[in-house]
Amino acid sequence: MRLKGKRALITGAARGIGRAFAEKYIAEGAEVVIGDIDMARAEDTAAEIGAVALKLDVTDAASIDAAMEKMRASGGIDILINNAAIFTAAPLVEITHEDYARVFKINVEGTLFMMQAAAKEMIAQGRGGKIINMASQAGRRGEALVAVYCASKAAVISLTQSAGLNLIEHGINVNAIAPGVVDGEHWDGVDAFFAKYENKPLGQKKKEVGESVPFGRMGTAADLTGMAVFLASDEAEYIVAQTYNVDGGNWMS
Ligand SMILES: NC(=O)c1ccc[n+]([C@@H]2O[C@H](COP(=O)([O-])OP(=O)(O)OC[C@H]3O[C@@H](n4cnc5c(N)ncnc54)[C@H](O)[C@@H]3O)[C@@H](O)[C@H]2O)c1
Repeated sequence: MRLKGKRALITGAARGIGRAFAEKYIAEGAEVVIGDIDMARAEDTAAEIGAVALKLDVTDAASIDAAMEKMRASGGIDILINNAAIFTAAPLVEITHEDYARVFKINVEGTLFMMQAAAKEMIAQGRGGKIINMASQAGRRGEALVAVYCASKAAVISLTQSAGLNLIEHGINVNAIAPGVVDGEHWDGVDAFFAKYENKPLGQKKKEVGESVPFGRMGTAADLTGMAVFLASDEAEYIVAQTYNVDGGNWMS
């Protein structure tokens, strides 16, 4: 029960990694609010795991404000996980302005303004807080077909550093997790991009990336939950502005 009495808002937790975080946080004693643009899925997930579902679009200022008002009215916010994100891939010469704008709007702008909104609440509450941003190994180095997503996750790492340094004076720890390759619906989409651009059968890229992980397989959402609990717990008080790789040994930094 390392998160007993804590109230957490996890964006994009209707499915995938965010859902696994929500389940683990509840098991550790936290009250969890799932904020997702896919309200139908968020409600199903919330009912299954004992969380609360909230309609949230991290790109929309009014939606963010409404979410924070609901958090305030129900007891405040101690933990924010900025988990919502989208993926895209294309050769450089095929990247469109629309695709770039869409990815940066959700992955970067969404992360920044969710941090801002949560930080305002946490400062007003005066009991500190924890913010965890979902980065990626994609933010550690470029990839030939993944320029936009990689750049968005590099920006998340940078925002984590600046926000972490700025907010620690209020007792708010901002850190990030950089997963490697995590099996699930997200990676089904990634696999489909590579099938298209590298002319591979569906499932082939997944098999290849899994085999190349030093640990010997793709990650699962459950592989990440330990770090997510630790960074939100009192044990992580002295950890500021860091990004932790949880990737089976894919990347060292
Ligand atoms: N799966 C991986 O291999 C992997 C690797 C590295 C990093 N990550 C990162 O981990 C996080 C979770 O990944 P996942 O695999 O669970 O992804 P996912 O695609 O399964 O889930 C993303 C969730 O975000 C929600 N979402 C999308 N746009 C939104 C918006 N505007 N507002 C609110 N919610 C929105 C979706 O509805 C969905 O529920 C992401 O930040 C992702 O970039 C994933």
